[in-house]
Amino acid sequence: MRCNCRPVAAIPHPIAYQGSKRRLAAKILAFVPDGVATLYEPFCGSAAISLAAAAAGKAERIRLNDSLVPLSTLWRRILEDPKAIAEDYLRLWHAQDAAPARHYDAVRAAFNRDGDPAKLLFLLARCVKSAVRFNAAGEFNQSPDHRRRGTRPERMRQNLLAASALLRERTVVSAGDYAAALTEAGPGDVVYLDPPYQGTSGARDARYHQQLDRWRLVAELERLLDRGVDVIVSFDGRCGRQHYGRELPAELGLLRLELAAGRSSQATLLGRSEQTVESLYLSPQLVPAAQR
Ligand SMILES: C[S@@+](CC[C@H](N)C(=O)[O-])C[C@H]1O[C@@H](n2cnc3c(N)ncnc32)[C@H](O)[C@@H]1O
Repeated sequence: MRCNCRPVAAIPHPIAYQGSKRRLAAKILAFVPDGVATLYEPFCGSAAISLAAAAAGKAERIRLNDSLVPLSTLWRRILEDPKAIAEDYLRLWHAQDAAPARHYDAVRAAFNRDGDPAKLLFLLARCVKSAVRFNAAGEFNQSPDHRRRGTRPERMRQNLLAASALLRERTVVSAGDYAAALTEAGPGDVVYLDPPYQGTSGARDARYHQQLDRWRLVAELERLLDRGVDVIVSFDGRCGRQHYGRELPAELGLLRLELAAGRSSQATLLGRSEQTVESLYLSPQLVPAAQR
C-alpha cells in the first residue's frame, strides 16, 4: 500500500525517548486517513505519530497527553516558546564541558527537586537508552551514557522550532491519565494508543513511571469503539522467540497486524541477529479491504 506521509528523516524529533515510534511512524501513519478531525495521542511520549501526522497534514487538531507531568510541560513549552527551551538546553549542554558526569548528576538532582522540563530534555538526550527510569521514591535515576554528549544545541534548536511550527496551531496538551484525555473523542477522530511496556512476565517493574492496567485499557477501548471512535493500538510484540506482553482480546474486533521494527540492539549485543516485531491493532474501517 502506498504511504503518502513525508519521509521520516524530514520530521523533527526534539525528544529522545525509549520506545519512540519514530521509526515505525510511516507504517503506522499509512492507516490514518486524511481529514481526521482530532488525532489523540494520550500516551504521547515523544509524540512520534502526532509529528508525522502533522507533517502529512492528516489531522485538523491534535491532542497530546502524558501522565509524566514534566514531559507534558515540556511539550507545552515547545509549542509556546521553543526558543526559550532551546536556550535552556544550550546552557545545560555547554555546562557539561568541564566534567560531564558530575554535571549530569547535578542536573538530575536538580530535576528531581524542581521537575524543570528543560532539564528533562537534557537528561533524555544524555542518559542510557534515552530511557525514563525512576527509583522507589519516584526520583529519576537513569545513568548517563558516557559514550555520547547528547544532541548538539544547534540541531536541538532546529528540531524544537520545527516541531513547534508543525504542532502549535492545532495542538492541545494535557498531563494526566489517558482515559481522562479521551472523554471527548467521537466519530471522525482517531485515537493512537501506545501504552507503557508490559514486560515479558506481567510482573510489576518499579523502574517504570506507571504500569499498565490491561483490563482498564480493554474497557476504555470498548467505550471508544462503542462511541464510533477509530483506534490504533501498539501493544504486544516479539523478538525471536521471546514474546512481550499478551495480545489484546479478539472480542474487541480489532484487526491485528505485525510490523517489522528492525533488529533488536539487545540481541545484537548478545551476538544474535533477531528481528523485533510489534503488533498493531486497528479498527477494521482503517484497514483497506485488500489487507484484511
Ligand atoms: C511507550 S511510551 C509512548 C511512546 C510514544 N509512542 C513515542 O513515540 O514516543 C508510553 C508513555 O505513556 C506514559 N504513560 C504511562 N502511564 C500512563 C497513563 N496512565 N496515562 C497516560 N500516559 C501514561 C509514559 O509516561 C510514556 O511516556
